[in-house]
Amino acid sequence: MSLLGKFFSNAGKPAGFMGRVMIWGMNIFHARVAHWALSRLNIPEPVQIAELGCGGGRNIRDLLDKYPASHVTGLDYSPLSLEKARAFNRKMISAGRCEVIEGDVSAMPFEDGRFDLATAFETIYFWPGLVRCFDEVRRVLKTGGHFVIVSESDGSDKPSQWFNSVIDAMNLYTPDDIENALRSAGFKEIHTEHHEAQPWIVVTAMK
Ligand SMILES: C[S@@+](CC[C@H](N)C(=O)[O-])C[C@H]1O[C@@H](n2cnc3c(N)ncnc32)[C@H](O)[C@@H]1O
Repeated sequence: MSLLGKFFSNAGKPAGFMGRVMIWGMNIFHARVAHWALSRLNIPEPVQIAELGCGGGRNIRDLLDKYPASHVTGLDYSPLSLEKARAFNRKMISAGRCEVIEGDVSAMPFEDGRFDLATAFETIYFWPGLVRCFDEVRRVLKTGGHFVIVSESDGSDKPSQWFNSVIDAMNLYTPDDIENALRSAGFKEIHTEHHEAQPWIVVTAMK
């Protein structure tokens, strides 16, 4: 794999020095798409939220700000992401509003029906099979709970296609791919919104 490929592979599971640089960048460069997506959300106020593939943890803080009565559980399988997410949300963890847990989205350490909302920002590209993982997300949601997927690529843009070509573990998905996988996993009320000028998408679905 090329050096660039090695560096950008840290987006899928950050580790080592390059992973630290990647997490620092993710917390900065994913902010715009995340803020746009959060501004578009129109779902009942959630109490228990799971932030899946939480990376450096900035979205945890934004969810806590948007939903002041909520508790957010961040989940990631990269020990480095967990370290960063915990440091970033130190005060909220001390206040009891947040925890950050190690786990893989394909087999989560949560009981059935625990969450009102599960979010996945910039992470499904790396998940080991969409339907399998969406099934697992559905399991941990309450009936009537929502799943929100945010990606800065709808699969059509050249920069993301380039990333896809250099990162072995990455898979780009179109809105149709995502919606079909959600349907196969048993979700309903599936809706995709596109940004007016960017290839950004926010997909919402209900259990
Ligand atoms: C590109 S980063 C995005 C991080 C953060 N959500 C953001 O928007 O900045 C992808 C994150 O998803 C995590 N991830 C990927 N696949 C995962 C899996 N199967 N289970 C848990 N975490 C996963 C990676 O470790 C990484 O921290």
